Amino acid sequence: MQIGTPLSPNATRVMLLGSGELGKEVIIALQRLGVEVIAVDRYKNAPGHQVAHRAYVIDMTDDKALRDLIAQEKPHLIVPEIEALNTQTLADIESAGIATVIPTVKAVQLTMNREGIRRLAAETLNLPTSPYAFAKSESELQAAIDAGIGYPCFIKPTMSSSGKGQSRITQISEVKTAWDYAATGGRVNQGVVIVEGQIDFDYEITLLTVRAKNAQGEITTYFCEPIGHVQEKGDYVESWQPQPMATKALEESKRIAKAVTDSLGGLGLFGVELFIKGDQVWFSEVSPRPHDTGMVTMASQRFSEFDLHARAILGLPVDVSLTDAGASAVIYGGHETKNLAFDGVEAALAVPNSDIRLFGKPESFVKRRMGVALATGKDVTEARARAKLAASLVKPKVV
Ligand SMILES: Nc1ncnc2c1ncn2[C@@H]1O[C@H](COP(=O)(O)OP(=O)(O)OP(=O)(O)O)[C@@H](O)[C@H]1O
Ligand SMILES: [Mg+2]
Repeated sequence: MQIGTPLSPNATRVMLLGSGELGKEVIIALQRLGVEVIAVDRYKNAPGHQVAHRAYVIDMTDDKALRDLIAQEKPHLIVPEIEALNTQTLADIESAGIATVIPTVKAVQLTMNREGIRRLAAETLNLPTSPYAFAKSESELQAAIDAGIGYPCFIKPTMSSSGKGQSRITQISEVKTAWDYAATGGRVNQGVVIVEGQIDFDYEITLLTVRAKNAQGEITTYFCEPIGHVQEKGDYVESWQPQPMATKALEESKRIAKAVTDSLGGLGLFGVELFIKGDQVWFSEVSPRPHDTGMVTMASQRFSEFDLHARAILGLPVDVSLTDAGASAVIYGGHETKNLAFDGVEAALAVPNSDIRLFGKPESFVKRRMGVALATGKDVTEARARAKLAASLVKPKVV
């Protein structure tokens, strides 16, 4: 493994496709290791644009735009941070030997669509998941619910994230609204929805799973301590690490995470989402990249999920150790504006063992994630209370 000098002909170049708050931290981690980073997003001044060597705005679903930019910048590694990409272009780029896609083209293709990853997990790998069906119309949706999915159930666009277009319904009268919302709320309107039976879990976790090279150069799987989290309307609001778990449930979680990540392959960090009830574990979904709930690791681990991703993709060794019980709490914009300012940062940072990240997004929405508060504590309870307090003290306002 050799790393060159940034901005010289021998630079090690990495291109981020998607440059939000997670990409921004990956870019900073890569730059600390001397990598030259090119940040790409669909809008100007995205968080990652602000810290990269070069920044571009393109439509990443457009074959020509993506191909031309890769030809111009000649990255060694291409790191997708979002799902709305032209994955066929990436497949062509990789098979032509132009660049390596992280973790693999297969992983990016399967996880961009809920159908791909769900069928892989449930039908190919035989892992436990919620009962599910796919529907292309309201009547197909109703038929699937009646045929056994039942109520309550979750209806989601097959192409969406952060809870967009997703609803939980409890009765027949809500099916039409849920169909309309999912069919229009998806990222790319595919007109296909997944309906999932509700899993009555005790708690849910993200198991950050890293595929990295060991000292012998062999790809090895490492697990961070489990992260517990709270979701509101499909969007994460709070996370903490470590989530206490029964030994059997943790073993089963690792077995499932290993099966999924082995199958997706490549190098890098994955966020495996799992539902837990007693010793029972269900696979929900996986991100082939750092996970939003994993932002807690910026406080709780020796190396954050972003550092781990950077190291793993470069073929460097990783250390997944936890240093402190930690927590994160989301800071929302609270306003719809392009002129947001934050009051109360001094009060937030006066909370013991706290820290914040303000992402620098150029436009705020009421429920847009604009920052995150982090904290450590003697245990998760104390860390959570501190992170929530710090987040609540940050007061977004329009200036
Ligand atoms: N079948 C289910 N049973 C119980 N809860 C569910 C089910 N599906 C989704 N949920 C709840 O909704 C949350 C969001 O669902 P999911 O992860 O599928 O959506 P998402 O849009 O990909 O969200 P994100 O991008 O934040 O991960 C889950 O974390 C869980 O709390
Ligand atoms: Mg999820």
